[in-house]
Amino acid sequence: MMKHDLDFNMEPDFPPNNAYPPKWNFDNEKAWQLYRRAKREQWDEDNINWEEIKEYASGLDRKQRLAIAYWWSLLSNFDNATPVFAYAVVKSFENHLDTAVRGILTTITYDENRHNMVCGLSINNILPGFPFNFKPQDELERKAMLNVLWTWWNGSRYWKAYLEAYNKYTFDVLFTSFMMGEAAATTVFSTMAKGAKIRQFQEIFKNTAVDETRHYAFTHLIMSDNAGTMDDERKKLVTKQVRAGFVFLSLITYLPPKDFWKLPPWFVEVHEKMEDLARSAGFYIPDIKEKEDAWRNAIIRVGSSLKRYNIKMPAMPELGITGEEVFDIKEGDIIPVF
Ligand SMILES: [Fe+2]
Ligand SMILES: [Fe+2]
Repeated sequence: MMKHDLDFNMEPDFPPNNAYPPKWNFDNEKAWQLYRRAKREQWDEDNINWEEIKEYASGLDRKQRLAIAYWWSLLSNFDNATPVFAYAVVKSFENHLDTAVRGILTTITYDENRHNMVCGLSINNILPGFPFNFKPQDELERKAMLNVLWTWWNGSRYWKAYLEAYNKYTFDVLFTSFMMGEAAATTVFSTMAKGAKIRQFQEIFKNTAVDETRHYAFTHLIMSDNAGTMDDERKKLVTKQVRAGFVFLSLITYLPPKDFWKLPPWFVEVHEKMEDLARSAGFYIPDIKEKEDAWRNAIIRVGSSLKRYNIKMPAMPELGITGEEVFDIKEGDIIPVF
């Protein structure tokens, strides 16, 4: 029989990988600054004038409304990140990361929840019930609906991989994986804010870009704290994750590359039709050249930070960027989120 006698005269033994005991440290000043900034920069999706968006949508034809709801649905594949960061919060407590780092992750969880709310509210005010309660009236509508559902299905593959990633990678590799995504998101949302003709969307994208800029700063902080002690194997993993970030996020921010994605054969054709329809409704979506520029900017930004720590950038043949060849991105390699 096991003995369960506890010696209360001794300090208790705490099990490893456990959120207990609560512990605080106050010495990571850079992280504290970022945590404070996160609290200052909070915004409220209820302050967006949704009535105005509804009114705007009522002046559009059915296909245009579908196209805008379609875009928000695809975005939600990446902004469905509340559980992603909530899980990171759990892990950060179990591993007793710095108090301020845990605080930042908590704020990112709330940020992503807000971004996801915005996706839902946009759809609900433009084409309520899309896509699950949407009755397609022709082939284009049916295929657009299926594009969304299959994108989300790919999201479910990603979710499984993400949960397992914590058993495979260290925190520094995991969090720097978010880097490419946050950098790309920052540029894309800033571009969309500048281009948006509808004032409320302008506001949404401007605020979202502020959040994503801060998320990028977080990944940068984690990297600069850890890269100095990363061995070559970890550095290689970071290179691979940067490529994975591009592959994953390209679906909405560029064109879906062949790696990873399992999508209907008509995906790109219908996707481009939807984008054009949304544009015709005054909903600004960057064209292919602007998207490429945004990615190049993001890559230069991430690349220059990685270079400082002797971490190589992956090749991005799609954009004509040379670097370390990364082949065959599978489910298990994908970590990035917006
Ligand atoms: Fe983000
Ligand atoms: Fe986000």
